[in-house]
Amino acid sequence: MAKNTKLTHIAFIMDGNGRWAKARNLPRTAGHKAGCDRVTDIYEECLAQDIKVISLYAFSTENWNRPKSEISQLFKYLEIFFKKEIDRMLRDGTKIIASGDLSRLPKKTQEIVKEAIKRTENCGNFTFNICLNYGGKAEIIRATKLIAQEVLDKKISIDDINEEMYDNYLYTKGLPPVDLLIRTSGEQRTSNYMPWQLCYAEMIFPKTPWPDFDKEELRKCIDIYKNRDRRYGAIKDEEE
Ligand code: IPE
Ligand code: IPE
Ligand code: MG
Repeated sequence: MAKNTKLTHIAFIMDGNGRWAKARNLPRTAGHKAGCDRVTDIYEECLAQDIKVISLYAFSTENWNRPKSEISQLFKYLEIFFKKEIDRMLRDGTKIIASGDLSRLPKKTQEIVKEAIKRTENCGNFTFNICLNYGGKAEIIRATKLIAQEVLDKKISIDDINEEMYDNYLYTKGLPPVDLLIRTSGEQRTSNYMPWQLCYAEMIFPKTPWPDFDKEELRKCIDIYKNRDRRYGAIKDEEE
């Protein structure tokens, strides 16, 4: 019997847009457009499946190494996504939050994302965590600096530092840990994504590139997850 398979938080590494486009003789940016459209379907299915939080890796701290034209087009598609979906997300009671350092993003993208966050701040039905200019190591360094400053300011003592309080200094403050990580396109690595939050997540690596990852594929992943046995270092009941 599978254990501990309540599913509250799914994190997605939306990978494979470029290869999807290449296979169709299209520019990489066409893959990003198709990938953005796919987010809507996955969001809908997560709502239908009674998931409470999704985190989506949209742009990593390492993605600045890509050509400027690809980066700016990617942000344009993101702007279009939020403009198109914000009203319906508000109706769904979805709170939009962002993880990552938004200050390096194009001004227009920052405005649109911040506006979406502001408009949905009182929603409590579902959380849509968009990860932009996000890096797991950068997030841990940021949290460490915030905590060190509070120690210096004598707001907390070193003995107050523990795993529970550390959560409050991460971008994901207040969110439950990730239960399931899905990375599309077949790569089996986390690429600097949520090292703290994923530390006990189940992981599934479907071969499908993100622009083809549909509701049916998501349901298959959820079925696989439901059959996993999350032991958290303990032993199975029947062995007790
Ligand atoms: C994921 O698709 C989207 C981002 C990283 C922004 P990729 O663009 O990495 O697609 P592949 O991995 O090159 O196919
Ligand atoms: C991870 O994908 C980042 C996002 C999906 C936003 P990448 O395609 O950038 O990662 P690597 O290069 O395969 O590790
Ligand atoms: Mg990739």
